[in-house]
Amino acid sequence: MQFDVWTKGLVTLEAECLVVGVFDEGELTEEASTLDAAAGGRLAKLVARGDFPGRSGETLLVPDVEGLKASRVLLTGLGAKKNFSRKTFRKAIASAVAALARTRIASAAFAVTRPSFKDLDDYYFGRVVAEVVGNALYRVNDLKTAKKPKPPALEKVLAGPVRAPGAAVGRRGLTHGAAIAAAAKVQRDLANLPANVCTPSYLADQAKALAKAHASVKVTVLDEAGIRKEKMGCFLAVTQGSAEPPRFIIIEYKGPKAPKAPIVLVGKGITFDTGGISLKDPANMDEMKFDMSGSAAVISSLTLAAELRLPLNVVGLIAAAENMPDGRAIKPGDIVTSASGQTVEILNTDAEGRLVLCDALHYARRYDPAAIIDIATLTGACVVALGSHFCGCMSNDDALAREIVAAGQRADDRAWQLPFTEEYAEQLKSNFADMANIGGREGGALTAAAFLGKYTQGMKWAHLDVAGTAYTGGANKGSTGKPTPLLADFLIHRAGK
Ligand code: BES
Ligand code: MN
Ligand code: ZN
Repeated sequence: MQFDVWTKGLVTLEAECLVVGVFDEGELTEEASTLDAAAGGRLAKLVARGDFPGRSGETLLVPDVEGLKASRVLLTGLGAKKNFSRKTFRKAIASAVAALARTRIASAAFAVTRPSFKDLDDYYFGRVVAEVVGNALYRVNDLKTAKKPKPPALEKVLAGPVRAPGAAVGRRGLTHGAAIAAAAKVQRDLANLPANVCTPSYLADQAKALAKAHASVKVTVLDEAGIRKEKMGCFLAVTQGSAEPPRFIIIEYKGPKAPKAPIVLVGKGITFDTGGISLKDPANMDEMKFDMSGSAAVISSLTLAAELRLPLNVVGLIAAAENMPDGRAIKPGDIVTSASGQTVEILNTDAEGRLVLCDALHYARRYDPAAIIDIATLTGACVVALGSHFCGCMSNDDALAREIVAAGQRADDRAWQLPFTEEYAEQLKSNFADMANIGGREGGALTAAAFLGKYTQGMKWAHLDVAGTAYTGGANKGSTGKPTPLLADFLIHRAGK
């Protein structure tokens, strides 16, 4: 896809289609009015007789409009003006792209409107347009045997209006938005794959492919023997019930002129979570193929850093394994020793995410990270607490938590800070080991974070529980690509935007 900004002269723009917004009850935006004037009032007449009420999510393609260089106009609904938000703005662009994708239109100029939202300067305006266009063109990588429909013809998108002095910044936003959509696609494609394809070794191969494509990326993969050498007893405990060999994946990106201390991203890479001997209910268990979403977000974020050549050092660490019940599987009550030396009583084998993460978090110490963020579909409790609109963010450093929450806000991929205090760690007391791997029913997302907190002392660390946001179930089952946009914004800001 080719992106550019447009600065003036909507009426004479070279594009096959102009996309303009219409508010509720047919109120034309400034851009729509401009076209209407050139087209002899055709659009006003059309909305006046109720042909297009401007409801959010609806579009209308108006062919052969006179007086314009473009031959078509696509109206896209913005909903009620008083409720106009980042969300309805995004929806109007996405609906327009969906409508364009059903046609043979190859180039479109977006003139939906220029909202005056806070945090939507020329850079973010460009970024939103390119990101939404990219996401709207995403097609699930299904394994259906029926012939695939032709890909959409759309190959050129102009976004505006951007005033001329802002053009360069707007273009930068477009480049970043396209990179974010491409990275989200990396996450979605990996997470949507079934667990018999997307195994720990498959994830390792994907990481290696990234290193092959970018000289700035180096990948090291530890097999079971290597993991044993690192004394990752908690990680190994989870892997021992599966016939599928585990992998510990280290992805190192070195950016130009980067400060030395890296940002470390740690991903939960459970390619399938049956619960182990503490077996899960069968209903919706297929969704546990998404339990590697955190690791996919690590791969996508490193892809983005490399693609944009961000002036940062970023390290991705992925603990990849299957959690299976088996003759060799861990049993409730088993005690294992983590790489940090702390012992853990495994009271529930379904609380496996924290077991693989604790050893990965300990591994990160050798990098002396500027910040370390782990990403995990960690607890059902987080889904109960926040639903699917915010991921949970828990941190031992309030400034880091605020930085993450702000990144999520700007990226429309929001996080909500949840408590991380000593009280929750008390729930993890064990009679037989340094800690248990579960802390009872109350505050399940917080005791999980408290567990991880025992392995990150002295590092600036944040934990993102994305169990509710990384994928959707039901009729539209699939990966959402979150929290790739949040992480992308975090990295871009750390790189100086
Ligand atoms: N992968 C699950 C968490 C999960 C649950 C993600 C639902 C998405 C939707 C995790 O490994 C798990 O099983 N957590 C347990 C922890 C419990 C045993 C303390 C849970 O949340 O039930
Ligand atoms: Mn589990
Ligand atoms: Zn899990």
